[in-house]
Amino acid sequence: MENPYETDKLLGEYLHFHYGNENEVMPWSFGPKNGLNFAIRSVSELLDNASLNVSQKTSALDVGCAVGRSTFELAKHCDEVRGCDLSNAFIKAAELILSGGALSYDYLEEGDSYNNSTITFNNQNENISFFVADACDLPTDLPAFDVVHAANLICRLPNPLDFINRLPELVIKGGQLLLATPFTWLEEFTPRENWIGSGNSEEKLAELLHPYFKLERKVELPFLIREHRRKYQYSVSFGSRWRRV
Ligand SMILES: C[S@@+](CC[C@H](N)C(=O)[O-])C[C@H]1O[C@@H](n2cnc3c(N)ncnc32)[C@H](O)[C@@H]1O
Repeated sequence: MENPYETDKLLGEYLHFHYGNENEVMPWSFGPKNGLNFAIRSVSELLDNASLNVSQKTSALDVGCAVGRSTFELAKHCDEVRGCDLSNAFIKAAELILSGGALSYDYLEEGDSYNNSTITFNNQNENISFFVADACDLPTDLPAFDVVHAANLICRLPNPLDFINRLPELVIKGGQLLLATPFTWLEEFTPRENWIGSGNSEEKLAELLHPYFKLERKVELPFLIREHRRKYQYSVSFGSRWRRV
């Protein structure tokens, strides 16, 4: 089966989700605008900026970064930031945006009719980089980071435990793990036996992160993905910040 995150359809949806003009993403005045700008809020509402050690260089890793909006957000707070994703198409788009190039993309209006938009995001920063990687099998030579961010990733992995078990060595002691997940378990992504709970996923996640991480903050993070002018996905991600102990 083709990885859905390599398709033009999802590339357009995610570029629009991360960078789209608010009025183009949700043109309806009565629509749930609190779901906009999720890729910014999953950083801004979870990160404890005050506890970052400003006397030395700080680093962050954004796992499952898609087309990179949260990675750029992390770079406002950390000196060196890396974003990774399994999708070649998403990483290519993120790199193009990083290089300052204008990226034109199509988003669905209705049927097979598309609108076009262009991202010009002046964010050239030599301390940001992107790479293709599998969150279930991350490179063994990765260092530990001050901040690791993974938004809406774990319920898209075939075996979330492979990623979760790696986290203690990816976050420095005293560092922060920023997780967001709507726990949308689907067998097409995660075989049933690998789901982290069902109905009790929040508790199961806490059990798995214990004793390496201490829960510091919980926040509900709504998000809105536009499929077409009249169809949206509205979900609520469980946002959490965990301190590496
Ligand atoms: C639901 S999207 C979330 C993207 C982004 N973090 C956000 O909040 O908008 C899931 C992302 O995980 C990526 N992904 C899926 N399986 C992965 C894997 N095994 N390793 C790394 N990334 C993966 C997808 O390509 C996609 O970009």
